[in-house]
Amino acid sequence: MSRGIKALIRIPAKVVFVGGLFVLSACGHLGPQKNLYQALGGAKGVDAIVYELIVRIADDERVVDRFHNVDISRFKAGLETYICSVANGPCDYTGDSMQVVHAGHQYTDTEFNTIVQLLIEAMEAEGVPTVTQNRLLARLAPDYEAIVYQ
Ligand code: HEM
Repeated sequence: MSRGIKALIRIPAKVVFVGGLFVLSACGHLGPQKNLYQALGGAKGVDAIVYELIVRIADDERVVDRFHNVDISRFKAGLETYICSVANGPCDYTGDSMQVVHAGHQYTDTEFNTIVQLLIEAMEAEGVPTVTQNRLLARLAPDYEAIVYQ
């Protein structure tokens, strides 16, 4: 191989190397991406979001009747653990499946949307950034099938 051709081959390698350094320094600048649980504010953040959600459920005539005979402190603990678990926090939700928990009540999609709306308001009240709100909602959205009566 002639020297000229070798030099040509080496140039892209240098460019890639320099480019790699740029990427590395950019990553160093942003820091490691927080997992969802951390982005929600950890245990304190999740606790506050669930509290704000319950306050809103209690004040919303569209859904409050659904919670009349519910042990709210148990519901609060269960929902916190569930959110912690789906957000990759250090919790393991061992309660009944969403299907079993919500079975027999014929919850409607309108009620589902109301709970989602109240959850968004709760996250807003806690100053959770929209991008983080959407990350949590995306993980809860698949539960629609299990919760809503089809
Ligand atoms: C994003 C949608 C929803 C999620 C992620 C969700 C999640 C949960 C979780 C984790 C629990 C606690 C289970 C436990 O005790 O460990 C629960 C309980 C409950 N949920 Fe939902 N839920 C949703 C929507 C709804 C809707 C639309 C309704 C009705 C309007 C509803 C009514 C209830 C009730 C009444 C309980 C208490 C059950 C009991 O303790 O007997 N949920 N939910």
